Amino acid sequence: MSSPLADAVKLPCGLVFPNRLSKAAMAELMAKTNHPNPKLLDAYESWAEGGWGCILTGNVQVDVDHMGSPFDPALHSEYTGKDEALLSEWKKYADACQKHGTPAIVQICHPGRQSFRVAGRRGIFGSTLAPSAVPMNIGNGWLESIVAAITWSQPREMTRADIERVIRQFVDTARLAADAGFAGVELHGAHGYLLDQFLNAKTNIRSDEYGGTPAKRARFVLEILAEIRKVVPADFCVGIKLNSADHNSATFEDTMAQIKLLVEAGIDFMEVSGGSYEDTRMMGYTSQTTPQAPKSERTAAREAYFLEFAKGVRQRHPKLILMLTGGFRSRAGAEAALKDNACDLIGIARPAAVDPKWPMKLLDESIPDDKVQLQLNKAPVPFFARWLPLYLVGAGAESTYYADQIQRFARGLHD
Ligand SMILES: Cc1cc2nc3c(=O)[nH]c(=O)nc-3n(C[C@H](O)[C@H](O)[C@H](O)COP(=O)(O)O)c2cc1C
Repeated sequence: MSSPLADAVKLPCGLVFPNRLSKAAMAELMAKTNHPNPKLLDAYESWAEGGWGCILTGNVQVDVDHMGSPFDPALHSEYTGKDEALLSEWKKYADACQKHGTPAIVQICHPGRQSFRVAGRRGIFGSTLAPSAVPMNIGNGWLESIVAAITWSQPREMTRADIERVIRQFVDTARLAADAGFAGVELHGAHGYLLDQFLNAKTNIRSDEYGGTPAKRARFVLEILAEIRKVVPADFCVGIKLNSADHNSATFEDTMAQIKLLVEAGIDFMEVSGGSYEDTRMMGYTSQTTPQAPKSERTAAREAYFLEFAKGVRQRHPKLILMLTGGFRSRAGAEAALKDNACDLIGIARPAAVDPKWPMKLLDESIPDDKVQLQLNKAPVPFFARWLPLYLVGAGAESTYYADQIQRFARGLHD
């Protein structure tokens, strides 16, 4: 019997992914001038040859003043559709990703309060933007407070004008992606970045029309989605990456209410993840300093970190195309998630940094299951950083290690 991983999926916009395996977004840390460059394109050409059903780019920042890292590609100013040089650079990026027919989706992001002091052209003393002026909190001890103050500046509550400007920046970046020939965009609404900050009651304590109830907190995201739809072709995909919530947490029903609004607004797919810089569970680290994936008893037998939440969304929205990302390391684990009807798409990040052509093995039925699994150890934490909060340093070490793997295969080095 053929693997369910090999089945195609059609999205509401009409876009077809030829199989279920999605290369998940990974910041490559390669864009020194914050533009796509030949080395970045080399990395994507490797993924393009890898047999993926979909390629999600690493996060592209919608504002060069506010970035996730100093080396992300970013939009530098308004995009009017007239800048031929800019368009030609992004066309090359889209062509590299889609060279062998795999649709590529650009992940678009604003880090909000999580933008490091050194990431973005606003300067190290420039404040970050956020729905509310809630500072970063990575722990209550004096050490954590000092680390937080050194790493991030104080956020500033966004004004109406800020909100309008950031919506335009998301729209401009989506339009650039569409004009360049990408198949779609994914709004980065997870991992504690700006869209997640608006959705979340802990970071959004506004009392205007952008805060208060779950629906009001979702308004910023819904406006971005609606404004993007106005400027991109009907067959251009717009998806979102969102954080899961624990079933018994106070935020579970709020999150479900927001997902319902996104479904009603016609989102093409939703990627399920979790965590933030304050609790890095997307990388298998929690703020309880446990270097392990947060799994319930039931999910412990499975690989995926957020399987139970995906199944909860699936129950309420059977037609929503769901991508589940985090923890997949084997063909058996990926197939089990599909057979369990937890999701339609399997998002794969770290294994894709180690083996850019991993789908070739996953989809090759002549290779037995026990030969298609990866054992990825935790990236080592440098000795000089061991006095810092383990979950934060551990997740940082993971990101740096795997970004380095991407840079290695972009240079043609494979071991
Ligand atoms: C090097 C690296 C960079 C990442 N950058 C992003 C990013 O730009 N956007 C994003 O949504 N997630 C990012 N992530 C998180 C992954 O997309 C994914 O959610 C997480 O690694 C769990 O999946 P995995 O277990 O398959 O690695 C990154 C992860 C790594 C390892």
